[in-house]
Amino acid sequence: MDPFVQFVVRVSLMAIPLYLCNSLALLFGRGTPIDLGKNFLDGRRLLGDGKTVRGTFVGIVLGTAGAFLVKTAFPETALFLQSDYLAYGALLAVGAILGDFAGSFLKRRKGIERGKSVFLLDQLDFVVGGLAIGSLLVKPSLLEWIFLLAFTMLAHVLGNWIAYLAKLKKNPW
Ligand code: CTP
Ligand code: MG
Repeated sequence: MDPFVQFVVRVSLMAIPLYLCNSLALLFGRGTPIDLGKNFLDGRRLLGDGKTVRGTFVGIVLGTAGAFLVKTAFPETALFLQSDYLAYGALLAVGAILGDFAGSFLKRRKGIERGKSVFLLDQLDFVVGGLAIGSLLVKPSLLEWIFLLAFTMLAHVLGNWIAYLAKLKKNPW
């Protein structure tokens, strides 16, 4: 297969469970925080109210379900990663959640409140976590890492501008 097509297929197979997990946790997350309101040694919240049991569960289950659908609908394409795509999808989703937890954990340690933005960390923590844990089965190339990180930032900026122009947000950032 053409190397460019191969690249696009691989990064897409990586992106699908990552993005599903992250966006559906956001969409469906509410209620009981997964840290159960507990504080860390510094007296600040462990993760904060932005990481809920429901969002975490939905993200992992639906991120993995996305991989299942892709594997079922396009079995030959899914085989491209030389690994069990369902298992890989589950690792991506769990890793995305853990990366996002790590991001919130760091923010809380720095005294940054839930929802206050930290450029790059907020947008990329789930991608780094997902690809890192996913590396147990599939190691992305350096170019794939760079592409997915850059694409995610770009998608974030564009998405915010579209939401701003559609008057869904007050600021374009
Ligand atoms: N969310 C959730 N459970 C998760 C991840 C996200 O419920 N495991 C939901 C929460 O409603 C959260 C929203 O998705 O508010 C956006 O997620 P994120 O931006 O990661 O959280 P923040 O609220 O910005 O909190 P933090 O400062 O900890 O990043
Ligand atoms: Mg946030």
